[in-house]
Amino acid sequence: MTDRAEEDTVAVRVEDRIAWVSYNRPEKRNCMSPKLNRQMLRVLESLEFREDVGVLVLTGEGDAFSAGMDLKEYFRENEALGIGAIRKSQREAYGWWDRLRWYEKPTIGMVNGWAFGGAYGPLHALDIVVAADDATFGLSEINWGILPGGGASKVAQELMPFRKAIYHAMMGENLTGKQAAEQGLVTESVPADQLHARVTEIAQVLLKKDPNALRATKWAMRRMAEMTFDNAMDYLIRAQEALNGMGGLEARKEATRQFLDEKTFKPGLGAFDA
Ligand code: ACO
Repeated sequence: MTDRAEEDTVAVRVEDRIAWVSYNRPEKRNCMSPKLNRQMLRVLESLEFREDVGVLVLTGEGDAFSAGMDLKEYFRENEALGIGAIRKSQREAYGWWDRLRWYEKPTIGMVNGWAFGGAYGPLHALDIVVAADDATFGLSEINWGILPGGGASKVAQELMPFRKAIYHAMMGENLTGKQAAEQGLVTESVPADQLHARVTEIAQVLLKKDPNALRATKWAMRRMAEMTFDNAMDYLIRAQEALNGMGGLEARKEATRQFLDEKTFKPGLGAFDA
């Protein structure tokens, strides 16, 4: 097929408060071109504050999640144009991964197939990631003579045990979804025919939680990675106090009332009725 228009490189469907966002270049195994990177940022921004969206899912059309960066449009064509074009396309890619990492709403990755190199950036940015057992993960950079840049090696080093991460980065051998889950790269893996149902189930649980508390929790989990214990203790007090000012105090009072007075819910067994 001829090249897709920029606005067609990402597909979006909103259903029952879940935004299903897909890399939409299946004929190119959803590798990330500059056009796709620009469109993805637009799509993320357009969904972030929509009232009919409570959870965002990122997946890929066809048999790939994403085959990483586009070796033609992202690397070769920009390298021919020089450092200005290279930096611009890096900013476009890293820009939407960063927006996703600090997204206001909970995010889930649904890894349906190939996930290589640059795809590890968005993977790390997503809060929860479910892969098909037979999905394929690879830091293939070493197979074509570069290091896993664009954060990919940092992602592996941060999420996987060190011995597994360095082997993964140096050997260029792929992992199945099942192995990726065992090694911490993704949250869990399920048989491919259960992937959509499992992601929907997780999204529905998240939709029942208080959105402000969820946002504060996911940001705290990321921020604390670089804090001392004392700094984290202090940060968490401040974050909860900020949350109180966003309706958190009322939410907590109501939840406590439903538990202690009404006895209609138990916090240990599920979310209160907001
Ligand atoms: N960059 C550019 N084009 C790509 C990429 C990519 N990353 N991945 C796939 N394509 C293109 C192919 O060139 C091919 O294009 P064509 O139809 O015009 O010939 C088309 O997508 C289909 O790809 P095939 O290789 O024919 O598909 P197949 O299903 O046999 O293999 C696989 C899939 C294994 C994903 C293979 O395409 C591949 O190895 N892709 C590259 C993966 C990779 O190493 N990505 C870079 C990681 S490093 C980084 O991101 C910095």
